[in-house]
Amino acid sequence: MEKELRLDKLLSDSGLWSRKEAKQLLKQGRVQVDGAGGTGPGRKVRPSQGQVTVDGQPVNWEKFHYIMMNKPAGVLTATEDRHQRTVLDLLPAEYQRLFPVGRLDKDTEGVCCCSPTTRELAHRLLSPRHHVDKVYLAEIDGETDPADTAAFAAGMTLGDGTRCQPAGLESLGPGRCRVTLREGKFHQVKRMLAQRGKPVLHLKRLSMGIYRWMRR
Ligand code: URA
Repeated sequence: MEKELRLDKLLSDSGLWSRKEAKQLLKQGRVQVDGAGGTGPGRKVRPSQGQVTVDGQPVNWEKFHYIMMNKPAGVLTATEDRHQRTVLDLLPAEYQRLFPVGRLDKDTEGVCCCSPTTRELAHRLLSPRHHVDKVYLAEIDGETDPADTAAFAAGMTLGDGTRCQPAGLESLGPGRCRVTLREGKFHQVKRMLAQRGKPVLHLKRLSMGIYRWMRR
């Protein structure tokens, strides 16, 4: 049987209001259930049954929103920035409370996920313990060779002492290679390839686990 939810929780779970704002809306009498007022914050509803409205507008309740997007180059993986566009600026108003998971550099494009919390999905996708492959297509200056692939597979130590887990590296011919990581350290692909003398000219994340970049 579907669980009953407190109205203030249902409103804040919609992603449009914080819990505090939801309580305020209820106090102001702007919330109705099935067309009737008299709704205190503690009132419980079954989300799929009662039609909840705020100022007459229906609230579309879903427990969680997860978004997978193709981040363009030139956009920051952040929730807000005073001067530059962020991934949240690319999403409609109802998704502004999400958090990007798995940072991409400003000039990197490709798969970026947004989740309702900073924790669960991030941990699941990024922690090496969960073995989720992050696959990147790199355009490089040069061509990777079997010694580079062996160095990636052995687990590299970067110039500042950062130790990387074993990673996949596949040459795609002159100027291109595919890199597979199971973690996400700062500028990791660029730093690993630079250390092998093959600087990255352009980088795209093709997939995070099952989430894949698709050409439209
Ligand atoms: N590695 C990088 O160097 N940059 C990214 O944006 C992602 C992985």
